[in-house]
Amino acid sequence: MALHRFSFSTLFLLSLTLLTTTTLSLSTVYDLLPKYGLPSGLLPDSVTNFTLSDDGWFVVCLARSCEIEFDYRVRYDRTVSGRISYGSITELEGIQVKRLFIWLDVDEIKVDLPPTDSIYFKVGFINKKLGIDQFKTVHSCGVSGCSWKSFLQLPGMVNEAEMLITE
Ligand SMILES: *[C@@H]1O[C@H](CO)[C@@H](O)[C@H](O)[C@H]1NC(C)=O
Repeated sequence: MALHRFSFSTLFLLSLTLLTTTTLSLSTVYDLLPKYGLPSGLLPDSVTNFTLSDDGWFVVCLARSCEIEFDYRVRYDRTVSGRISYGSITELEGIQVKRLFIWLDVDEIKVDLPPTDSIYFKVGFINKKLGIDQFKTVHSCGVSGCSWKSFLQLPGMVNEAEMLITE
């Protein structure tokens, strides 16, 4: 009888554990972002795991650091962390934006509430406005570092010069 009860509760615990694990693995960081009114494409496709605390503090691990060409070139470190709340990420670490050959830390990311077509990257005291559509889909993570191709990419350099002028 005791054995029977033991195995029953073990089975119960086991199924509970399985259920919890399944639920956790199903809720990816890409599902999480939209729950906070943020586009899932803010992070590249190479997220391996993440943690989220009750107070909104999150840590995201990527398989490798990478760069993605949005309106600006954006670089992701292997670890990205910050505090997420509805419509914004503050205390952000691990995301940089390239401006005139210099990588600058993005401190905050936020969207308008109610939502508009824009998303804002706060770099120092400057709020850079970007089109939100380019973040709607999750981008594949390019290889980090500078290839010979990026040296020869004149249009990129022109864009960066324009960026400086339009500020
Ligand atoms: C992700 O997994 C690695 C290896 O298991 C672990 O060292 C790291 O702390 C985890 N990171 C998060 C944010 O959970």
